[in-house]
Amino acid sequence: MLKFKGSLKISGDKSISHRALILSAMSTGKARITNLLESEDVMSTLSILKELGIKIIKDGNNWIVFGNGTGGFIEPKKPLDCGNSGTTARLMIGAVSSNPINCTFVGDNSLSKRSMSRVTKHLEDIGAIVHLTKKDYLPLIISGSEKLLPIKHNILKASAQIKSALIIAALNIHGKTKIIENIATRDHTERLLKFLNVKFKIKKTNKKTSQIELNGPYEFKAKNIDIAGDPSSASFFIVGALILPKSKITLKDVMLNPSRTAFIKVLKSMGGKIKLKKTKQICGEDVGNITAEYSKLKGINIPANQSAYLIDEYPILSIAASQAKGKTIMKGLDELRHKESDRIQSILFNLKKVGIEVYEENSNLHIFGKKIKLNKNVKIKSFGDHRIAMSFSILNMLYDNKLKIDNKKCINISYPDFTKHLNYLL
Ligand code: S3P
Repeated sequence: MLKFKGSLKISGDKSISHRALILSAMSTGKARITNLLESEDVMSTLSILKELGIKIIKDGNNWIVFGNGTGGFIEPKKPLDCGNSGTTARLMIGAVSSNPINCTFVGDNSLSKRSMSRVTKHLEDIGAIVHLTKKDYLPLIISGSEKLLPIKHNILKASAQIKSALIIAALNIHGKTKIIENIATRDHTERLLKFLNVKFKIKKTNKKTSQIELNGPYEFKAKNIDIAGDPSSASFFIVGALILPKSKITLKDVMLNPSRTAFIKVLKSMGGKIKLKKTKQICGEDVGNITAEYSKLKGINIPANQSAYLIDEYPILSIAASQAKGKTIMKGLDELRHKESDRIQSILFNLKKVGIEVYEENSNLHIFGKKIKLNKNVKIKSFGDHRIAMSFSILNMLYDNKLKIDNKKCINISYPDFTKHLNYLL
């Protein structure tokens, strides 16, 4: 039986890689970015910034971004291609909106089925002109302005992308923009802005809601940015170590931001033997090492109020649940329908194929863990979704490679070194 062992430094964080490029482009001066994740999604952001007139060069293993200021984008000569990347589309639509330029945004088939009005309706409220396909989708054309209005936005959906798009737009808006977040989401944009010495306020209005207040336009100096390891990428190997008997691994220099590591708490309450050791802070984020070893897991209830902090980890958590004793219920997964695939359907379809009893009711997922011995090969559909392909690649270690996963190249969207790293741990 295969097991995971040894230690590994996983690749740079995807969310921070996008933000490091965008905020450096909007700063003044030269930023050296270390450990940028060179995945397809991040490269989409990088090439769009180049189309918008930002000089970005590779220097050895680092990237150097020459900032043009908060109002420094020039009108692109061709459509801005976001590929498969929701983060690129949402954040870059926000970024260009407060510049007086016209931009067309396009994306691949999957991205062209994901909602963009969740961001653009807020931008239209403040004066941007937007034409969307079927009122919600890419391709879209946006005419930005340097005279967008500073107002109070109330974000009802739990989405770090919507919040970040509005924060980034506000960096070049004259006056006070207020952004109310009703459900807390990942806070990398805020942390990176603080690191870049951008002054803004965050007020906790009650236990759940908070208000971010920016007073633009801003001018801020470029700083070198070092990007820590991606906890969402680490989650695959952590679950791998928990479910493969005799495994023990250490993942080094992983970002430990609590808005990203909630899955570790969940796995610990399932009985997972996981230890975190904070070692340093880089660019406003806590960083440390994570040790995980084989554990006897038990099913649990995962409440809906956790979903914003677990949003990318449900596919791999469903793999852990499939190997746990008893039933796991994951509640409040509505937003999973709007990811790179309808992840509720993708998880259901593939776990059923393996022989796990699973059903969905009102966007709650019920998974009955069971030890199964596969006697023949099983076809798994990735649905072109990188996190589905990686999650079932981990389960495949337990099933002696009997799972035949289609279109594994979609893994390059977020973790090009995944297969190399997986083999390294074997
Ligand atoms: C991200 C936010 C999340 C997450 C995505 C990255 C970000 O999306 O699923 O992978 O970098 O802000 P939503 O904010 O739409 O939930």
